[in-house]
Amino acid sequence: MSLIEVKNLGVQFQTQDGLVYAVNGINFSLDRGQTLGIVGESGSGKSQSVLAMMGLLASNGRATGQALYQGQDLLAMKPADLNRIRGNRVAMIFQDPMTSLNPYLTVERQMTEVLQFHKGLDRKAARARSVQLLDAVKIPEAARRITMYPHEFSGGMRQRVMIAMALLCEPEVLIADEPTTALDVTVQAQIIALLRELQRDFGTAIIMITHDLGVVAGLCDEVMVLYGGRVMEQGSADSIFYRASHPYTVGLLGAIPRLDAEGETLVAIPGAPPNMAKLPKGCPFSERCTLSSEQCIEILPALLPAEHDAAVLRACHRSVQAVSELAAKEASHA
Ligand SMILES: Nc1ncnc2c1ncn2[C@@H]1O[C@H](COP(=O)(O)OP(=O)(O)OP(=O)(O)O)[C@@H](O)[C@H]1O
Ligand SMILES: [Mg+2]
Repeated sequence: MSLIEVKNLGVQFQTQDGLVYAVNGINFSLDRGQTLGIVGESGSGKSQSVLAMMGLLASNGRATGQALYQGQDLLAMKPADLNRIRGNRVAMIFQDPMTSLNPYLTVERQMTEVLQFHKGLDRKAARARSVQLLDAVKIPEAARRITMYPHEFSGGMRQRVMIAMALLCEPEVLIADEPTTALDVTVQAQIIALLRELQRDFGTAIIMITHDLGVVAGLCDEVMVLYGGRVMEQGSADSIFYRASHPYTVGLLGAIPRLDAEGETLVAIPGAPPNMAKLPKGCPFSERCTLSSEQCIEILPALLPAEHDAAVLRACHRSVQAVSELAAKEASHA
């Protein structure tokens, strides 16, 4: 049995414009010590996919499908049972640290309460363990700083505090939602290195969400590329990086910041992500895709094993050959 098995996960929101299908039919499984990357531009459905698993959707949202943790469906669980797993066996690092850190409580109070609630430790033991975790995420002078309030930490340090909090109960699964977006490149690299270390030392399974394919390089075993709430391509990190078979993945790879003679450049994909309330009837990416055909505009492509590698799933009417020619062309422009 996989540690996590997500089957046909969907998220719908009730809005004034009607139902918004934010996430459609996502499937993946994750074993101990493995990392899955979920990649896509803003609004592609990354956060809602994992919030659904954690039972944290907004009140107008509804999740369908299954999210099995050790065979138990998180989506069908009673709130009390879910609370025992959430923050304990499955923990999450949020996009904005201030959404999960309480600004009015010291870091010590917030960390020790988690351990008292989930692990039944007394104050003293909880404090010792909390300092140990702050040390592990490389907060200097942890024993002194633990008495500080969240706003007294810099952005990068705050993100580390949140990682330490998420790791307090030694979760089997860590969900990290863009944990490095707000940070500068050096701190970003440090946080990624830290996650890799934690995974090695604790065997934690990680779901890493990012809009930047560069971040998942070297960290993820498998990558899922989302666009318009749908999986465009899914497979091993190697296949996504070296043999991208979807035009959107090719575009994302081109958008990785590169250091060149002129400094850092970012080649973005032309056009904007779609309005989720008014998705085209065919492929959601068809409006921005340079390989788009009549068929792409009219018919939604199914997610199927790729002709060149059955372990890769892709939702694209165009051949792998046509996409690799596109990738070669883009690479020659770079
Ligand atoms: N409460 C809500 N009601 C209606 N639509 C919502 C609601 N919450 C999210 N959505 C929509 O769901 C879609 C997916 O949002 P999601 O937060 O998963 O994006 P994301 O991929 O995490 O983007 P980002 O990189 O900006 O965080 C978006 O189009 C968003 O507008
Ligand atoms: Mg998000």
